[in-house]
Amino acid sequence: MAHHLLLISLLAFTCFSISSAFEPSPLQDFCVADITNAALVNGRVCKDPKLVQASDFFFTGLHLPGNTSNSFGSKVTPVNVAQLPGLNTLDISMVRIDYAPWGVNAPHTHPRASEILTVLEGTLYVGFVTSNPENRLIAKTLQKGDVFVFPVGLIHFQRNAGYGNAVAIAALSSQNPGVVSVGNAVFGSNPPIASEVLTKSFQVGKNVVDRLQAQFL
Ligand SMILES: *[C@@H]1O[C@H](CO)[C@@H](O)[C@H](O)[C@H]1NC(C)=O
Repeated sequence: MAHHLLLISLLAFTCFSISSAFEPSPLQDFCVADITNAALVNGRVCKDPKLVQASDFFFTGLHLPGNTSNSFGSKVTPVNVAQLPGLNTLDISMVRIDYAPWGVNAPHTHPRASEILTVLEGTLYVGFVTSNPENRLIAKTLQKGDVFVFPVGLIHFQRNAGYGNAVAIAALSSQNPGVVSVGNAVFGSNPPIASEVLTKSFQVGKNVVDRLQAQFL
């Protein structure tokens, strides 16, 4: 009996671990997010399928350039489950990224998604870094029509390497990929990470840490 219980809990644990590693496969045609339901589940609660409309599967506006008048000179316009409720449970979403000349989409990672990016206009220098201990930079200059993939979890970036504006569209393998920007996470957290942690971690003086924190806070 005790053996059975142990086996069952082990099985349950294994199944849970597997199913929670990635978004679960749909068990029905769709599960449009019910944005009025505040229940805390993994993802969003389904809207009654009988009440679902075409508008639940629709987003408009991705033809519009994002406003790149900021210190990075880039703007990401997301279309994930927050903008398009029909994406709930479907493991997919997209973004439009606009880049002013020399604009950068600063190093960041998506904890829940791989990303496949295609250049619609301009020239982008893009890359990602492999995990420790190699930390190999895999980078390339892309032209209009070129496609590049950023594997899930790895830190990546893009920079407009041309004289005109650049535009990219990217698809991501999650309804809610999440973004961790390296600078914001390390130097702009709220509350700030103690400077003793950062000075020792980066082997720099407190003045350098203060300077970087001032940039991101
Ligand atoms: C773009 O953003 C800047 C800075 O926030 C703002 O001053 C400007 O009005 C915006 N431009 C447009 C067209 O919205």
